[in-house]
Amino acid sequence: MKFELSEEHEMIRKAARDFAQNELLPGVIERDEHQKFPVEEIKKLGELGFLGMMVNPEYGGGGLDTVSYVLAMEEISKIDASASVVMSVNNSLVCWGVERFGSEEQKKKYLVPLAKGEIIGAFCLSEPEAGSDATSQHTTAVDKGDHYLVNGTKNWITNGAHASVYLVMAQTDVSLGHKGINCLIIEKDMPGFTVGPKENKLGIRGSDTHSLMFADVKVPKENRIGDEGFGFKFAMKTLEGGRIGIASQALGIASGAYELAVRYAKERKAFGKEIKHHQAIQFKLADMATEIQAARLLCLKAAWLKDNEQNYALASSMAKLFASRVAMEVTVEAVQVHGGYGYVKEYHVERLMRDAKITQIYEGTSEIQKIVISRSILN
Ligand code: CAA
Repeated sequence: MKFELSEEHEMIRKAARDFAQNELLPGVIERDEHQKFPVEEIKKLGELGFLGMMVNPEYGGGGLDTVSYVLAMEEISKIDASASVVMSVNNSLVCWGVERFGSEEQKKKYLVPLAKGEIIGAFCLSEPEAGSDATSQHTTAVDKGDHYLVNGTKNWITNGAHASVYLVMAQTDVSLGHKGINCLIIEKDMPGFTVGPKENKLGIRGSDTHSLMFADVKVPKENRIGDEGFGFKFAMKTLEGGRIGIASQALGIASGAYELAVRYAKERKAFGKEIKHHQAIQFKLADMATEIQAARLLCLKAAWLKDNEQNYALASSMAKLFASRVAMEVTVEAVQVHGGYGYVKEYHVERLMRDAKITQIYEGTSEIQKIVISRSILN
């Protein structure tokens, strides 16, 4: 067993850290405050290859492993979790899904620009009545011979307004239940497709989360991913990897808050000495560091299993369950270490605390991860 990262991994981590410090940090408070999508920053992330990191270079990607992706996600998320969710969805839900299950034509047409970061994508599973209960899809894709006619509404879609390509789960044959669901690639300019209002969120306020409406959208049959009825399994398989991305995002939020707390503890004086000399602070930092390290190991283990083509469903759910809990606990403690300063925006930790909460909700709530984990243990 080797606990060392390669030189290449260290270089990727440094590149992500430098980008986060130089490009994301300067405007992050303003983007959070005004709910501004990081347009220019995402463009640069794409140019540097962070939006299609794991895609085969043949299709415009970086050809890197999942361990590299975890390292980059942690560094980007330390500074700006709104940017990192764009990165996570594009890499693990959209690019991975198309590369793994798409046709050659779909890869050439959609994956190449997605992997190069020329466009971004969205993953559309959630509906007003199908969040955790993802088999209950009400969006329909009626088979019309050479095309599907899509009607319905999707909710909480990350990259909702800024995506150009949408992977949409829709029910074709209700009598078949989840086996009647298809995943269709829908382009933004297809007639009948509209982007609904933006959600005003507690955290990750720089990312754009929208509902989407489909009214008689004509989608060619060649835009279906996989065989007829493969849509639900496609979504589940894709989410297994997505959960590694969100676990790494949670890890980054936690470690970002921890680093700020350590820095503050060394600078701030109270009762005649820096607060780092008070045991109350020392114990908090020790707990934070230990929890973060455990979360990091779970993320890296899940990534390693994926890179080595072993089953990673259980490991990714464990990583997400644990890392998102750590993100909540650590960010709350980081605010506490900062005292009153932690409660104001300039010190960043209050934003990280608000951002942390979503990691326990999207790509499957903590309760969903427990279902996946317990089923794996018991069956
Ligand atoms: N891989 C392959 N197949 C899978 C699978 C997996 N990981 N998980 C389930 N399946 C298959 C099952 O084998 C079953 O197929 P068969 O009938 O052929 O055996 C079928 O799918 C249905 O599975 P279940 O009976 O287990 O379905 P369920 O309804 O009891 O539970 C669930 C499934 C795990 C709860 C699932 O619904 C789930 O994961 N829900 C959460 C959805 C989610 O994560 N949504 C996130 C939205 S995306 C997002 O948030 C992106 C973003 O914005 C950042």
